[in-house]
Order: sequence, then structure tokens, then C-alpha cells
Amino acid sequence: MLQNVRGMRDLMPDDVWKLRFIEGNARRLAELYGYEEVITPIIEHYELLAAKVGEETRKRMYAFVDLGGRKVALRPEFTASIARLVITRMVAAPKPIRLFSFGSLYRYDEPQLGRYREFWQANYELIGSSRPEADVEILCLTNDFLRGLGLRNYTIKVNHIGVLRGILLHEGVPEDGQNAIMQALDKKDWEGAMSLAKSLGVGDACLETLRSIIGIRGYDESTFINEVSNTIKAYPEAISALENFRRTLELSERSGLKAQLYFEAGFARGLEYYTGIIFEAYVPELDIAICGGGRYDRLVESFGGGPLPAIGVAFGVDRIMLAMEKQGISPSRPPRKRVLIIPLDCGLLAEAIKLAGMLRENGIPSEVEVMGRNLSRALSDGSRRDITHAVIIGPKEFSEGKIVFRDMRGKVQEDIRIGDLPAKICPKSSSHRS
Ligand code: HAM
Repeated sequence: MLQNVRGMRDLMPDDVWKLRFIEGNARRLAELYGYEEVITPIIEHYELLAAKVGEETRKRMYAFVDLGGRKVALRPEFTASIARLVITRMVAAPKPIRLFSFGSLYRYDEPQLGRYREFWQANYELIGSSRPEADVEILCLTNDFLRGLGLRNYTIKVNHIGVLRGILLHEGVPEDGQNAIMQALDKKDWEGAMSLAKSLGVGDACLETLRSIIGIRGYDESTFINEVSNTIKAYPEAISALENFRRTLELSERSGLKAQLYFEAGFARGLEYYTGIIFEAYVPELDIAICGGGRYDRLVESFGGGPLPAIGVAFGVDRIMLAMEKQGISPSRPPRKRVLIIPLDCGLLAEAIKLAGMLRENGIPSEVEVMGRNLSRALSDGSRRDITHAVIIGPKEFSEGKIVFRDMRGKVQEDIRIGDLPAKICPKSSSHRS
């Protein structure tokens, strides 16, 4: 009973500090790129979240019936909620719509390093444009996010899901069948994907094409595009998807995107709503994706909104924390002043509490000794807790309007006037506001 529910974690102060550090960076980046922050509920209707999330995530959702008899679920991702929000609240908003969200998500995944049942994402959605410049914006944002945290040597794996879908569509494979094949590819179950395609009526020539496509990968963009192009000659839908991919890649290169891209033609993502470019980023120290995203031009429409193309990306904050740790990136907590106020007898407790209030009004973090410790124990407890200054209130000094001010690091102390305390602790702070 006192143990955490499996897959759920307590985040201790240092973890929370790192998480909030990443959140701060994410929010600053949102501002720099013009993304407005929205907060959507953690609980949504099951049907909304389940509709296009893909079989793998769908079966891992925390779904339940609420006391009002509604089938609801904890969100496993943000994108469906954002699509709902856009349809219901922003239908007339000028396009594009740029939205940022930060929060916790829930998936009944098998707990392991970097895979939790409650985890955090920073999520960005760019809605309303189907153009390559929108794709490039999200790729640039992804690169800036990772680089801005000091991460190095990461690779962004990219593909255009329209190529695979185009081939399957041409062979008459219905969307459900295509999705099942994508799920198998997402798990790198190449053989499973091939036998599924066969069972869905894909002919031998097309199976051969699929087998070749799955093998095309590498760092060189033009080699990749040429090889894929030579393989898909019989599939017009795939050719136009590849052309769209080529235009995005060309624009990103001309725009100076400085990220290591890795092209993999058999790469698919588990979520079902993707229609265009898809990508995930990896650092060499971890074999799990630290972010993932892609273009989803039909999700909003499938929920009953008008046709509204979109692209987005979500960063797995917990995994980014791990990646930073593995790369030895530890953002240092800025030094802070912490004052401990120690009354020498109980009669001065009220004065200690008032003094702490005065310091806090001046923006100085202040704690009162609340354990009834004597002076020497209170001081050693203060050292243990990284207290920077102690304010000792003794009856004699206090009757003269003074206190004893102790610098805990230098271990020196002096008598000073109470009113001079804020300026003494923070030389630039204003004096006590009356
Ligand atoms: P996703 O790939 O499912 O995409 O999740 C994005 C990131 O969340 C992953 O790359 C990973 O870093 C992190 N993540 C996922 N599951 C877990 C887990 N169980 N534990 C820890 N971290 C996890 C999406 O969620 C899409 N909604 C992204 C998107 C936005 N596509 C378009 N717009």
C-alpha cells in the first residue's frame, strides 16, 4: 500500500528542478517560435483519445467509466486533445495556429529505463499549413530544443509515411490494413509487416517493392531519394509523397538546418494519424526516442472539423533528462540565499515569525527554526540544509533594535540593525516595505 503503483514515480526535489528547467526552456522556445500555451484536461472521452492513436497505444490507455457513466481515459498524448480544442474553440482563428502544451501523460507501458506509465511531454502543434515550410519549422524547432539543452550527437531519423501508404493504397489495402502494417514496421517486425501485406492481398511485385523499400536507409539524402525513387516507379501516390519529402528536405538544407538526419524508408510510427513526414530523435547513449512527431493532415477532419493540415512534435521530458544525465549535462542550480531565523528563547518566536515575513516581502527566502532547537543545533542543522545566512534573535540585541547576522559559509557574525537586514543579505534588494 505504501509502495508506488507500478510504473508511477515520485519525483524528488532535484528531479523536479531538472524537469522544471526543461519546462522553462520549452516555454521560452515556444515564445521564440510564436506558440501559445494551452492547458487541456488530463481526462478526455475515450473515443477521442482512442480514435487514431494506434493499436499499440490504444490497448495501453488508462480507460475507465466515471461516476456519471461516461467512458473516459487519461490522455496518452496531447495531439488528439489539441485537435479537439481547435475544432471546438478555435475554428475561426486565423491560420496558422501554433499551440504549445506541457504536462503529464499516461500509458500502461512495461516499466523500464526511460519508459514509464506517467511521463511528461513538451508538445508543439502547427495547424493550418500543409506546406514544406511548416515541416521545416517543426524540424528547426526540434533541433533548437535539443541543442538548446546542450545535447550533442543526436540523430533525427526521418521518413515520409505517404510513400508506404501510397504503395499500399495503390494495391487497394484499406486504411485499417495499412495501419496494421505500420504498427508492425514501428516495432521493426519487417517479416510481420510483409506477411500482413501478403494476407491483405498485396501482389508479388508489390511485396518485392516493399521489401526493397524497407531496406533503404542511410545518412545521404540524395542517395536515399534516388534509391526510393527508383523503387516506387509504379506507384504515383508514392511518387508524389516522395516529391513532397524531397521539397521539405531541400528547403531544410537551404535554410541551414544543422542536424544529423538519418533516412529510413521502412520507418513508421505507432500513431495512426500521420500522413506525411515523420521523425524521431535519438542520442547514441540511449536506444529509445527522445522525441517524435510528424505531419497529420487528416486528423482534424476525421474528428468532424474542416480539412486542416497540421504537423507537430512531442519531446519526452523524462527521456531528455536521462539523455542529459548520460551526456554529463547538469544544469547548475543558480546560487540562492536561504535565511534561517533562530530565536534564542520562546518569548521571541513571534518576532522571529514577523522578521521572516519582512524578509520574504523583500523577496528573501526565509525559514524560522520550528523544531525548538538550541542555537548550536539550529546552526548545524542550517549548515546541513544549505542555509546561507542565520539571523539570531537574542533578547539583549533585540531590545536595541538589532539582531546577530551570521554568514554561514564564512562562519562570521556581526550585530546589525533589523532594518538593514534585507540590504545586507541582498545588497541590491529594496529596504523593508512598510
Ligand atoms: P510519441 O512518439 O508517442 O508521439 O511520444 C513522443 C515522445 O514521448 C517519445 O519520443 C518519448 O520520448 C516520449 N514517451 C512516449 N512514451 C513514453 C513513456 N512510456 N515513458 C517515457 N516517455 C515516453 C506523440 O505522443 C505524438 N503526439 C507526437 C506528435 C505531436 N505528433 C504530432 N504532434
